[in-house]
Amino acid sequence: MAQRQHYFAAGPAALPDSVKQQIQLDIAEYGNSGLSILELGHRSPEFAIIIEQARQLLRSLYAIPDHFEILFMQAGATAQFDAIPLNLLSNKSLMTYVDSGHWSRRAAEFAEKYGRVQRLSAVSEAKSVDADVMPSERADWQITADSAYIHMTPNETIEGIQIADISDANVPVVADMTSCLLMRAIDFERYDLVYAGAQKTLGIAGVTLVIVRQDLLQQATEQTPYMLRYDIHAEQQSIVNTSPVFAVYCVLQMLQWLKAQGGLAPMLAAANERSSLLYKAIDEQPLTSNKVSSELRSSINVCFDIAGEKRLQQFLAEAEMQGLLGLAGHRHHGGVRASMYNGTTLSAVESLAEMIAAL
Ligand SMILES: Cc1ncc(COP(=O)(O)O)c(C=O)c1O
Repeated sequence: MAQRQHYFAAGPAALPDSVKQQIQLDIAEYGNSGLSILELGHRSPEFAIIIEQARQLLRSLYAIPDHFEILFMQAGATAQFDAIPLNLLSNKSLMTYVDSGHWSRRAAEFAEKYGRVQRLSAVSEAKSVDADVMPSERADWQITADSAYIHMTPNETIEGIQIADISDANVPVVADMTSCLLMRAIDFERYDLVYAGAQKTLGIAGVTLVIVRQDLLQQATEQTPYMLRYDIHAEQQSIVNTSPVFAVYCVLQMLQWLKAQGGLAPMLAAANERSSLLYKAIDEQPLTSNKVSSELRSSINVCFDIAGEKRLQQFLAEAEMQGLLGLAGHRHHGGVRASMYNGTTLSAVESLAEMIAAL
């Protein structure tokens, strides 16, 4: 079997070794509780401490202002595609969605069940097969003032597209940060609701973080399902039914690990270093290509094509033999995708860049 050097999968994704070691200890026994972390009750005093510590650590790492609530919800980021309109649309009928790729489109499709959706394009895909994916002109955006909110996906995990913050919105800004939370600082002056499934940057699947301005909490309607209501989660400190104890515990482990690494600033610097190295290797190799224009290239999920299906399959097989796992592109997209979250070492990326150079 291949000796793992690094796991580049998009999510569930690599966890840092020290985090996995701590998890192993806590699976044997959590503290002096006499119980495995897997057995710990969601109403136990131990879990009350775990969830509160996770909340406080996230708040301090991001300097999240007091007028934001931090919720731990379930059913993944996809459930938020429904939860957001069901909690924020209130008596309005229009929502604005920035289109930047697969996941933002999916969110917009879900929203269409609840009202009218205005779509703004962040990317203009050229018609020719060889042309780049270019940024569209933001100056053209007319964000309709009677829109309930504007939704954006700063990092598109499947295409490897990253778009800039919206700085001048006159309506609440909602962001799907499933593949970029904890990868850089966030200015909470610019966002009103941020959400992320945990399985990429925050641990394992099973919990979704929702960081939402308190004055947006009371807008759910009678039709909003109980488990999707932000006000219910806020009132009950996110212990509404049986909480995903282990997944929340993993979020805490990841946050503690991140703090020990020096916080968010070094994470951004490391992501930039890794991705610059990889894009350089891709651009220098005539047999590989990345069609995303430089302003939109993701520093987290780097996608590229390799000329010739046989060469691509050989590359993926050779990478596995060298211990570089999880590199196959998304099933709808093909090619290669290197997802490089916070645990990814520069040396793993150097190995990948060497393989590209040797094609
Ligand atoms: C940006 C983004 N949004 C949403 C999702 C869907 O997340 P989940 O599987 O937690 O519903 C993903 C999953 O890859 C994602 O990358």
